[in-house]
Amino acid sequence: MRAMTASNLRSAHGGESMAHMRYKVWADKAEKDGFPNVARLFRAVSHAEHVHSWNHFSRLRVEPGDHTVIAGAGFGLASTSENLAGACGGEEFEVTEMYPAYIAIAEAQGEAGAAQSMKFAFEAEKVHLEMYCKAKESVDAGQDPAIGVIQVCDMCGHTLEGDAPDTCPVCGASRDKFIAF
Ligand SMILES: [Fe+2]
Ligand SMILES: [Fe+2]
Repeated sequence: MRAMTASNLRSAHGGESMAHMRYKVWADKAEKDGFPNVARLFRAVSHAEHVHSWNHFSRLRVEPGDHTVIAGAGFGLASTSENLAGACGGEEFEVTEMYPAYIAIAEAQGEAGAAQSMKFAFEAEKVHLEMYCKAKESVDAGQDPAIGVIQVCDMCGHTLEGDAPDTCPVCGASRDKFIAF
């Protein structure tokens, strides 16, 4: 894999890995704060980030050594409203800055596998951004948001509310690949 695409993919793996863990911690906090649906949302999205992190890692060739990754993140346990603001900010960065740039570079370098893995993530992050920002509005009004069953595609991380589709609209995986939260 070309050096710049590989570096970007390693960083994307780092960012997704941290988001996966951060959302789990924030899910427990939301549960304690009396927002069970926000907790469920954090857990569902955490799983989607896990899928992205896994896919990115798997696309990299074996690269022994001690690679440094660049993956910005906020840290710490704030209120659920502030945690949701952090989640929105992180997803927005991925949607407006990180993935469009990383995908463009991967495509320019002819790295189709890396580009596909990052496109899968990019599509899911758009949904996450919307879901988190909507949830924050409810929490700020003192209400646990009304969120139905959340489905996450175990192959690409695509996230949606409601019934699992027959095939994933992003990666084409079959219905049985969706995990319900
Ligand atoms: Fe996300
Ligand atoms: Fe999928």
